[in-house]
Amino acid sequence: MTIYFDNAATSWPKPLAVRQALDAYFGDAGGNPGRAGHRMSIAAGRVVLEAREAIARLFNVADSSQIAFTKNATEALNLAIYGLVRPGDHVITSSVEHNSVARPLRHLEQQGVGVTFVACSPQGLLDPDDVRTARRPNTRLLVTTHASNVVGTLLPIAELAAMARGWGVPYLVDAAQTAGNVPIDIAALGVDMLAFTGHKGLMGLTGTGGLYSREGLQLAPLMRGGTGSDSELEIQPEFLPDLYESGTLNVAGLAGLAAGAALLIDAGVEEIHANEQELVQRFLDGAAAIPGLTVYGPADVRQRTGVLSFNLEHLSPSEVGMLLDQRWEIMCRVGLHCAPAAHRTIGTYPTGTVRFGWSSFNSVEEIDFALAALASLATLGAPHRSWAGAALS
Ligand SMILES: Cc1ncc(COP(=O)(O)O)c(C=O)c1O
Repeated sequence: MTIYFDNAATSWPKPLAVRQALDAYFGDAGGNPGRAGHRMSIAAGRVVLEAREAIARLFNVADSSQIAFTKNATEALNLAIYGLVRPGDHVITSSVEHNSVARPLRHLEQQGVGVTFVACSPQGLLDPDDVRTARRPNTRLLVTTHASNVVGTLLPIAELAAMARGWGVPYLVDAAQTAGNVPIDIAALGVDMLAFTGHKGLMGLTGTGGLYSREGLQLAPLMRGGTGSDSELEIQPEFLPDLYESGTLNVAGLAGLAAGAALLIDAGVEEIHANEQELVQRFLDGAAAIPGLTVYGPADVRQRTGVLSFNLEHLSPSEVGMLLDQRWEIMCRVGLHCAPAAHRTIGTYPTGTVRFGWSSFNSVEEIDFALAALASLATLGAPHRSWAGAALS
């Protein structure tokens, strides 16, 4: 039995509808979208529009042109951060951010931007009051993840959005871990910007992602170039999404993304989230009976997504990951997960943790199988490390 528990890195398997959409794209819509008037270019343009409208429907955005496609969440986050923040500004963020947020901010610190990394609890919980007290007169941006990619803890984005709105400060949400896994209603939340990736919970391909930005929020684009629109002008068009979408889009990827988003709309993200919480609860219950197994993050599954970190006493995360793969064909991700500050927050820096990330394609039976594997590893204990070493060599 091959078990894929690395959905927080990228989801697998991709649904049949996604693979079929790619096939249809290659057969019928192989032109360059918006660049010509022939049928294959028009068909490609339709693919892009369908993807934009499906994402808008999924996140409850009235005007799909407020969604710009990028190649991943990282590019979307960079577009939002560098598009808005200037030297002399102040930014508030959390201590559990992925490097896609932390590294641009650390870079901007060197350009004269003040950054406050508000500390989360060792469970990854963020107290909105700590964010409130971090505000300065020159605060230009609040940016947080929706959920930690290390422990799966959900951050209070509705409260933070209301707070930022009261201040008149734009709030950017990194939804890389939650888009497609946790219900997101942009209109109800009132967030100003939201970055997503296409290849995790949205079930699409690598090389896709995007940024929602609210109407009237003008960002400086990361790139300028061909858009297929206003070709007579040598300056960048100022309307969305073209302002942020220079160069030919990943149309094949967007065909897959449109199919993935359509599936999620049909299935209902609430149901997917409930499913994943059930898997988490099953794992937490089973893990409690395994000696030497520490699970990080909140005990209450309502504060979690389907991502979870743990460690086994006497074995390093990489030993556990290798053994799970070699002996039980369980695939997961170990180490620091591109989020060193999050590991400092939960007390697992520098060795990190073992991370399981679940999707709707995982089952209770797989969780039970993994728990049995971990119970077996737990019996190794310190005196048997030579056994583990031999198994790894
Ligand atoms: C919380 C978070 N933010 C951003 C990213 C970056 O996503 P991408 O690799 O699609 O740019 C990830 C990916 O793991 C993530 O987990």
